[in-house]
Amino acid sequence: MRETFRFPDHFLWGAATSAYQIEGHPHADGAGPSIWHRFANSPGRTMNAESGVIACDHYTRWADDVALMSQLGLNAYRFSISWSRILPTGVGAKNPGGIAFYDRLVDGLLARNITPNATLFHWDLPAALDDRGGWLNPDIADWFADYARVCFDALGDRVKMWATLNEPWVVTDGGYLHGALAPGHRNLFEAPLASINLMRAHGAAVKVYRAGGYDGRIGLVVNLEPKDAATDHPDDLEATRRADAYMNRQYLDPVFKKQWPAELRDVFGEAWPAHADDALDLIAQPIDFLGINYYTRSVTKNDDSALPVRAGVVRQPSHTYTETGWEVHPDSLTKLLLSVKAQYGDIPLYITENGAAFYDAPKAHDGRVEDPLRVRYLHAHLRAIHHAIAAGVDLRGYFAWSLLDNYEWSLGFSKRFGIVHVDYDTLERTPKASAHFYSGVIRSHGEVLAEPVPTAGSLLDAGLVTASPGA
Ligand code: BGC
Repeated sequence: MRETFRFPDHFLWGAATSAYQIEGHPHADGAGPSIWHRFANSPGRTMNAESGVIACDHYTRWADDVALMSQLGLNAYRFSISWSRILPTGVGAKNPGGIAFYDRLVDGLLARNITPNATLFHWDLPAALDDRGGWLNPDIADWFADYARVCFDALGDRVKMWATLNEPWVVTDGGYLHGALAPGHRNLFEAPLASINLMRAHGAAVKVYRAGGYDGRIGLVVNLEPKDAATDHPDDLEATRRADAYMNRQYLDPVFKKQWPAELRDVFGEAWPAHADDALDLIAQPIDFLGINYYTRSVTKNDDSALPVRAGVVRQPSHTYTETGWEVHPDSLTKLLLSVKAQYGDIPLYITENGAAFYDAPKAHDGRVEDPLRVRYLHAHLRAIHHAIAAGVDLRGYFAWSLLDNYEWSLGFSKRFGIVHVDYDTLERTPKASAHFYSGVIRSHGEVLAEPVPTAGSLLDAGLVTASPGA
């Protein structure tokens, strides 16, 4: 029987970005430097020494970008606020020029009936705070809470959906353990301290939101990656549990169960701080929603050389992988949503990021950018979330990563995740076939997902989308 697809009427259909990845002009109008400015300007840290100094020039082109969102039919937009635009040294004096930028953006979104969803921290820590120890300094919970209050006071009358942190796991794993991301440390003893302080900062900001009586909702955004054991061998099963604790439960258990996963003591050994439990009261503030960023799963096996988790990934030869080497596995998204509900209760969920980097063919003569692999990826993952909703998961929105091709951190501009192509010479935006497809899904409330995965031309031929979106 033909499957039917119909999403709830108030479902949020959005796309996501982050400040440093798209804005450019990081020091405009009085802003202070962030750790990403320093990192990208240090030798050997980013591909081709690329930085976000121009990125997508969204800082000046934001109004056109908002117009494009509206043309595509998006009713929500997830962006992040640059801490050092608001407070150039991370604490103390406010920067009116920085606040004014987000003011304009939020007003522009609301004028087009696009719900703003603001994230307070997407990796671009003020450099001045890094000088004081950054996420290793326990005072950062207070610094972050004070910054959050400034944002709530400035924008909270119009922004009703807030996330504290984006992906604390990536901040600690990439920033403090493996060093591929700013601030680029590689230290087993720092990673758990950074994690605990990130989560304390999250809890402190939630407390400020509650105490301030702001009218809206606040949550946390985590990246979750289901871990499937490669075999039934007890060593692989143990490794899978460790990997799941390290990457997923490390950030969920303290919030929802007021405990750290027991496996973390095994993973970090003597580096796991004796005082970790003292932070739990602050961390376990009730939140209004959980944002999940889903990109892939990993098939996991024991590997004693892969420190500190001692778990490795087994490549699946018959499966598709993205250009960043991530297995495409939409069924794991359905399973993940069901398992979050089973483990942590019926909290409202959003997919706050989902997408893929693929090689996109250059723009054709007729101006189209065909990205059939991304269309296929979106088609499968949107079906997967519908399956979860049909099975009773309270999923309230989906944000594609990303609205625009953008600065992919230490990979520079080498990986394109956008549903909208950006020409990095002219900065011209061109919606790809995937943007037209997504637009068709939104306009039909999901009904077009009943069709087999569309080919590029068929999207236009079937009249599901128009060559110029919104026409
Ligand atoms: C991050 C984004 C990043 C994306 C693709 C997510 O982990 O939130 O900033 O661009 O993954 O790597």
